[in-house]
Amino acid sequence: MDVDTLLTTTRSVRRKLDLDRPVEPEAITECLRIAIQAPAAGALLSSIRWLVIRDQATRQAVAAHVREPARISQARYGHLVSPAVLASGQHLVEVLDRVPVFVLAAMIGSPGAEGPSANAFYGSVYPAIWSFQLALRSRGLGTTITAYHLNGHEADVAALLDIPDDVTQVALLPVAYLTTNDFRPAARPSVESITYYERWECTAH
Ligand SMILES: Cc1cc2nc3c(=O)[nH]c(=O)nc-3n(C[C@H](O)[C@H](O)[C@H](O)COP(=O)(O)O)c2cc1C
Repeated sequence: MDVDTLLTTTRSVRRKLDLDRPVEPEAITECLRIAIQAPAAGALLSSIRWLVIRDQATRQAVAAHVREPARISQARYGHLVSPAVLASGQHLVEVLDRVPVFVLAAMIGSPGAEGPSANAFYGSVYPAIWSFQLALRSRGLGTTITAYHLNGHEADVAALLDIPDDVTQVALLPVAYLTTNDFRPAARPSVESITYYERWECTAH
């Protein structure tokens, strides 16, 4: 797959995940090895951590902490996305514990007050998360960033997984093989409508 196709067709996959096909541990390690080449703000590069969860009972326990905040979030904000995206989000939450691998992206420390700015903190892990998604896709695997449990259930998941208090969880990525390779560029605003030249809101150049 050429690079532009990879970059424009790597989607958030919720329905087209193969829940029955095991994912080799080496595939995850390979993708993470690629992901950690992403940029980060200076010293924050060393704050990134990944927690790979394969054990079924642990995935079930994590999924239980995701479902309640997910349902609340989907009820509250579901109208902001298309019915298809909402339904696919609901589907992922329903089958979550059957997705063979969870990868939790985390950062040692926390943003704000004494620590780094939120911009530097989260901006130091999201490039790696995206690279992880791209590396997965190039190997026929897929995922979706989920953040539901961070609303009120981060501590439950931390307790379950022995995550220390000084660690901030950033995203839970359920990973599986894809059941199709038929992904396309998504609808997005036109570049022309959101790109300004020389002065704010000057779209002409
Ligand atoms: C910070 C962040 C948080 C997200 N949280 C969720 C989530 O909790 N559940 C979910 O289904 N998708 C989540 N997504 C995925 C977005 O819904 C998705 O990227 C968006 O719908 C665009 O679809 P695409 O990625 O297929 O282009 C998240 C994405 C980002 C960047």
